[in-house]
Amino acid sequence: MNPQAALLTVAEPYLIQQDWAAYTPEKHAVWAELVSRRMPQLRQHACQEYLDGFEQIGLREDTIPNLAEVNKRLGPRTGWNATPVSGFLPPDAFFEMLAARQFPTTTWLRSRDSLEYTPEPDIFHDVFGHVPMHAHPVFADFLQHYGKVCARLKDKDKLERMGRLFWFTVEFGVIRQNGQVKLYGSGLISSHGESSYVIQGGPEIRDFNLDQVLDQQFLVSEMQKVLYAVDSFDQIYEAAQQAEERLA
Ligand SMILES: [Fe+2]
Repeated sequence: MNPQAALLTVAEPYLIQQDWAAYTPEKHAVWAELVSRRMPQLRQHACQEYLDGFEQIGLREDTIPNLAEVNKRLGPRTGWNATPVSGFLPPDAFFEMLAARQFPTTTWLRSRDSLEYTPEPDIFHDVFGHVPMHAHPVFADFLQHYGKVCARLKDKDKLERMGRLFWFTVEFGVIRQNGQVKLYGSGLISSHGESSYVIQGGPEIRDFNLDQVLDQQFLVSEMQKVLYAVDSFDQIYEAAQQAEERLA
């Protein structure tokens, strides 16, 4: 276990080891299929930081990532770790981990009959979808700060508002680059259907505005009707700072 994980208290019961040798050839083949289905679209429509992060942390198309290997590359860049957990975490454990630069990462992988969607996150959503962005220094700082702010909040309404900031950045964030809307949120990166909907002009793309985001309701079960585009990742870092001041 990495040394920072030893400092976790609330999240400690959820920490597990990834048994990488236990993945069957069929599981690696499912991973390969998932990655090969996503990459052609992402090479065109993902933000550059995601594509760079994918290379920097050494993700591969043919095998399920070994988290220890990923962390050997990711840790020296930004201090983040993809830390294996047993499943969904309660909010206080989740925020404790983010504040410690530990990203809770599931280790199971969906089966071949549910390639497009799983109700609970799996290693494809968590590692392919999320972790490449953690190699980007500004995004890395933003995510840790977000965790710190939420870990201190006790008010349910304020936490719900912060949940919307997470949703419209980490999960469904888009960024304008070279005159185009590019994807960086993991819910988009890991889903062909959600990404295609955005690329085809489905959602209304608004300029990122913290007050609007904190008030913007969303449905997990439907395609997103509204997304918020930033012009740089500095904007979401500043948003986390401003949200801290507003909700303190
Ligand atoms: Fe996610």
